[in-house]
Amino acid sequence: MKTIRETKSLRAELSGFAQDGESVALVPTMGSLHQGHMELARLASEYAERVVVSVFVNPTQFGPQEDFENYPRTFDTDRRRLSRAGVDVMFAPTHDEIYPFGAERMTRVSVPGLSLMLCGERRPGHFDGVTSVVNRLFNIVRPEVAVFGQKDYQQLVIIRRMVQDLHMPIKILASPTQREKSGLALSSRNRYLTTDERDRAVELYATVCACRDQYLAGERDPATLEKTGFERLSRAGFEPDYLTIRKSGDLSLPDDDSSFLVVLAAAQLGKARLIDNVMFEMPG
Ligand code: PAF
Repeated sequence: MKTIRETKSLRAELSGFAQDGESVALVPTMGSLHQGHMELARLASEYAERVVVSVFVNPTQFGPQEDFENYPRTFDTDRRRLSRAGVDVMFAPTHDEIYPFGAERMTRVSVPGLSLMLCGERRPGHFDGVTSVVNRLFNIVRPEVAVFGQKDYQQLVIIRRMVQDLHMPIKILASPTQREKSGLALSSRNRYLTTDERDRAVELYATVCACRDQYLAGERDPATLEKTGFERLSRAGFEPDYLTIRKSGDLSLPDDDSSFLVVLAAAQLGKARLIDNVMFEMPG
């Protein structure tokens, strides 16, 4: 596996792949890799001959009070994992490679509407940071395929929309959320949980699933669904942020005919802001 920090060197490597007629899949990450990321890379390798994993802790998607400084950085372990997994290139650019004119003056890519709701409402500017960096990574790597995790469901929907709206010739693949046996979704931010919080964190997925079951059993009132879920989360020590059922395609509110739905939730537990979701289909 090659570890590359500069766009110029990456381009040279990529043109070698292109000359050999090999397709490229990109897996954008912020490092601190866990099994969920390794699944993204595995899925990528099924769809392209060469896999590039980018590792870049993107400052523009963190709010001023958020954990950019403390975000776990585990470069050497990440490199070893990726190399063992047969990834071709780890692209770990410097800040200046990604934002040559500085992050404050960056050209922004924004997906209005979708970026302002749910996590976007609580984390202003977050998704603009995500789309702005993913756009740059797409332009640098020019992959045929890019893989994202379903755990960050809103991010996935926003990136799909960006790709469609900007006519980018990139196939976006979604990789299912990887979970611990308890149901807890794997996340780099789980590192912030104490042992006791980790035990209680399983309630987030349990609550999301219970909300789905309540909806399937006929409960349609968003306020009732939210109240039941919030109570359960609060009992487990969370500060709930949102719990909602949306159409899985565009995150709009469901109507009576909606078939493909997703329950989305976010809640704070100790130092960690956790998110989770579950997709489901209405019977019939
Ligand atoms: O999901 C993430 O880790 C990040 O938001 C991404 C897509 C790598 C952009 O920085």
